[in-house]
Amino acid sequence: MWLLLKGGRIIDPASGIDKIGDLLIVDGRIAAVGKVAEPNKNTDGMESGETCDVSGMVVTPGLIDMHVHLREPGFEYKETIATGANAAAAGGFTAIAPMPNTKPAIDNRAMVEFILSTAALEADIRILPVGAMTKGMDGKEMAEIGEMVASGVTAVSDDAFPIQNSELMRRLMEYCKMFDLPILTHCEDKNLVVDGMMNEGAVSTVLGLRGMPAAAEEIMIARNIALAELAGSRLHIQHVSSAGSVEIIRQAKKRGVNVTCETCPQYFSLTDEAVCGYNTNAKVNPPLRTAADVEAIKQGLAEGVIDAIATDHAPHAIEEKEVEFNAAAFGMVGLETALPLTITNLVETGVLSLSDAIAKLTANPASILKVEGGNLKEGSYADVTIFDPKAEFTVKASELKSKSKNTPFDGMTLKGSAVATICYGKVVYGQEKLIGAGKV
Ligand code: DOR
Repeated sequence: MWLLLKGGRIIDPASGIDKIGDLLIVDGRIAAVGKVAEPNKNTDGMESGETCDVSGMVVTPGLIDMHVHLREPGFEYKETIATGANAAAAGGFTAIAPMPNTKPAIDNRAMVEFILSTAALEADIRILPVGAMTKGMDGKEMAEIGEMVASGVTAVSDDAFPIQNSELMRRLMEYCKMFDLPILTHCEDKNLVVDGMMNEGAVSTVLGLRGMPAAAEEIMIARNIALAELAGSRLHIQHVSSAGSVEIIRQAKKRGVNVTCETCPQYFSLTDEAVCGYNTNAKVNPPLRTAADVEAIKQGLAEGVIDAIATDHAPHAIEEKEVEFNAAAFGMVGLETALPLTITNLVETGVLSLSDAIAKLTANPASILKVEGGNLKEGSYADVTIFDPKAEFTVKASELKSKSKNTPFDGMTLKGSAVATICYGKVVYGQEKLIGAGKV
């Protein structure tokens, strides 16, 4: 089986490629990039195949989202592995890393095997499970990390239940170092946040909502960096949202600490003003912050202090969002809006080149997680995303593939959504637009 994509703008940051060309996929792998002739059905022994004209489109490695929440098992009414994978494919993602805050938590071998076997049956894209660091994510006792590594876990994280005990965190860092296992940290000093609901500042005062100071994020980032230096281990910081956090990570990188980080589209696209009107779809943890924070996040992305863009896709049911602000769940869906928000708010505005933006969604997360993919080199997995960087569309929450519709971007006009997504050489989204359609 072959698929030839003709005349697209091929951007592969891992290979330093940004040029108009063709891409040939044979039997699930990248076979050739450049000027490629259609395989001869008679002489090359390759009987079935398609040629698609993708001129005007951008062709990149399949996007990798290193931070999502699929809610299976335990909360299938919000999202399942199957529906989350469908939403991811529609958003241009070919690999996603689900966090362990399911019920029960993914904290042992059997749970990792459940995720992988369900994904093998029900998901068209690659699922890279993340295991919990402590049993039940209760921050007390180390989880069976060695066994989870043996069964295929990609990284570990205690997600939104960050380990407050520094001694335990140090031991976990030392232990994970033996496996060179990425530790993904949601940084939050829970004692300082108390029961805050949004960013602490002028807007929270006007709305009368209890605030979450940026210092709660920054204190924990500084602590985790100090512990990673002590343990000599590597550290990845999730969803960076504040100017102070960017500065702490900038300084740590300057002195050679092995630290990487991600931000999410909401932190470069929205401020805490989005909460005005008590909009629960803008309630997220860490919270949306100020315009100065948004500028610092953009600066951090442009400088390379922020390595990756992830979504923190956090589906919640309507009854968990259409309630009083203090009772609403934290989180927003993000898989289907991440690429267009990146194109519209970072590339169109000149913060990042298209190639640098793609690197933060492909090669960089692949290298942090040490997984295959994230490039278009010959012989690599044929995980490919095709998008139109110029076509405008309006986000319609009701039409999202995700089971949950909790997005603050409903009704916004954006550019650059995925046209087709290919995983292992199979078209997993946009088949009708690509195959047999002539020019895409
Ligand atoms: O807003 C959030 N929602 N932040 C998190 O860290 C967790 C997530 C969830 O699981 O809903």
